[in-house]
Amino acid sequence: MKVLILGANGQLARNTTRIFLRDTDAKLTLYLRRADRLGKPHPNRVTIVEGDVLDPAKLQSALKGQDVVYANLAGDMKKQAEHIVEAMHATEVKRLIFISSMGIYGEVPGERYRSVLDPYRDSAAVIERSDLDYTILRPGWFTHDEEVLYQLSQKDEQFKGHDISLNSLSDLIVKLALTPGMESRHSLGVSRG
Ligand SMILES: NC(=O)c1ccc[n+]([C@@H]2O[C@H](COP(=O)([O-])OP(=O)(O)OC[C@H]3O[C@@H](n4cnc5c(N)ncnc54)[C@H](OP(=O)(O)O)[C@@H]3O)[C@@H](O)[C@H]2O)c1
Repeated sequence: MKVLILGANGQLARNTTRIFLRDTDAKLTLYLRRADRLGKPHPNRVTIVEGDVLDPAKLQSALKGQDVVYANLAGDMKKQAEHIVEAMHATEVKRLIFISSMGIYGEVPGERYRSVLDPYRDSAAVIERSDLDYTILRPGWFTHDEEVLYQLSQKDEQFKGHDISLNSLSDLIVKLALTPGMESRHSLGVSRG
């Protein structure tokens, strides 16, 4: 199993890289800006690529031969999603796990939709319009609790709870990456409940 991690220096991406290396034998390509920020863990299993997701040639080159893309990004996420969808089409890679945020559909009880979520909502819409084998994750607030405990809600359901541990998210991302068809073309709320 070959997994390309986009935005690999992100907090959640670094935690998930650790879990991939600990619990699986997946081969990882860590794609990030300013690669000198990462050491080189497991030289046999980890390739580091310095690149911006908005660089089509670099992104396509990193995508070749990958089984799964896990995007852990921030910033101009609509544009990033457009670039990812286009590059995945060009390289015929189908499986995408994309980290978004709770609240993008106004699904959190007691919370109104806020414009700060626009990049998350707009990028999710780009991915949902694609024909990719995607899973969008809408996590609650990250915590550093050690526990792995989470519940999922589908797009048409209310979000439950508020917080989620990084370890829980990483556990779910690894399962999604390793299990063909799991939650394909779904957008999942993830919280401790
Ligand atoms: N913290 C929470 O409680 C919470 C809750 C729900 C959702 N989220 C969202 O979940 C996502 C993942 O969280 P996180 O804490 O891992 O985020 P993070 O630490 O901010 O990581 C995001 C990464 O995206 C990278 N990035 C941005 N634009 C890029 C580009 N054009 N090309 C390549 N890389 C790019 C950044 O790279 P640089 O380091 O080079 O800038 C950064 O390392 C974020 O969108 C976050 O907002 C967070």
